[in-house]
Amino acid sequence: MGLIKWTTSPWGQLIPEHVAWYLIWVAIIAGFCFMIVHALYIRAFSPRKVFAKNEAPVAPEQVPERVPRHSLAARIFHWVMAAAMFTLLFTAFLPKLGVHFNWILYHWIAGVVLTISIVFHVIHSSFFQDAGSIWPDKTDIRDAFRRLLRFTGKPAPPPTRFAKYPLENKFYHLCIVLAGLAVIGTGVFMLKRINTPFFTRNPYVFSDMTWGLMYVLHGLAGIALIALVIVHVYMGLRPEKMPITKSMIFGWMSRDFYLEEHDPKRWAIKQSKQSQKKRGLAASDAD
Ligand code: HEM
Repeated sequence: MGLIKWTTSPWGQLIPEHVAWYLIWVAIIAGFCFMIVHALYIRAFSPRKVFAKNEAPVAPEQVPERVPRHSLAARIFHWVMAAAMFTLLFTAFLPKLGVHFNWILYHWIAGVVLTISIVFHVIHSSFFQDAGSIWPDKTDIRDAFRRLLRFTGKPAPPPTRFAKYPLENKFYHLCIVLAGLAVIGTGVFMLKRINTPFFTRNPYVFSDMTWGLMYVLHGLAGIALIALVIVHVYMGLRPEKMPITKSMIFGWMSRDFYLEEHDPKRWAIKQSKQSQKKRGLAASDAD
């Protein structure tokens, strides 16, 4: 029951063939265990979010009713990536679980779509968005310790409200980046093993050992993505997370949710000229 299925090359060398497929079940079970434990925890403790007072509170009137969260481009990227990801997971693993079909064709096409969408995302988020907002900062780490101390009954000041993304989301993003880059990095080379309009098939560009290791990494990262995707979908469907999920569809979240969970100093809202104008009018009306 090793993690890797080994084989012997025509020259008698022991080489890795691919990851052991029982790990698919390990990932599915791990994902479901996370769901059950998390749901029970929320039910048993119904943790109430307690935050410190905002250092620079804003008056609700200063915040638009609909707080813009995801641009149209970011939303399109997210759903294209999700469609590619599900196609990749189903085409990769259903055949391993006994459902046979011409999976390689759909798999590599979805792989290319995922690769292009990620390249787009990296450029878009680096040059047209606040790229730093998805990486943990000092306040996140300090607040994580504060939450841990408070959870264990020790005295600690309450944490501040979140910036655009809570630490959990940032950590999740980091995991998906690592697993995603691993499947893409290896998948692009694996296109050389099959016939596609992009490359002529040439399985001899690497040694058997290098290919074997590449297949193992591709499979391991892919299997990790099963668990990561289960956790992501579960979190997105949780009632208290619905405002965040809806914002990935409609692009905005409500003012109440923003003021409740976010710190305007850490996530300042860029207001559209239209909404500024509207409030200007409202103020002069009130005058
Ligand atoms: C969620 C992401 C992905 C998952 C879960 C995944 C999973 C898998 C698995 C389990 C295999 C079978 C490997 C084996 O038999 O050892 C495979 C094969 C393959 N994958 Fe992926 N993969 C993903 C992304 C990608 C991407 C992004 C590309 C291309 C850019 C890609 C290209 C390929 C190719 C070409 C093969 C076939 C190789 C062959 O049959 O020789 N995959 N993938």
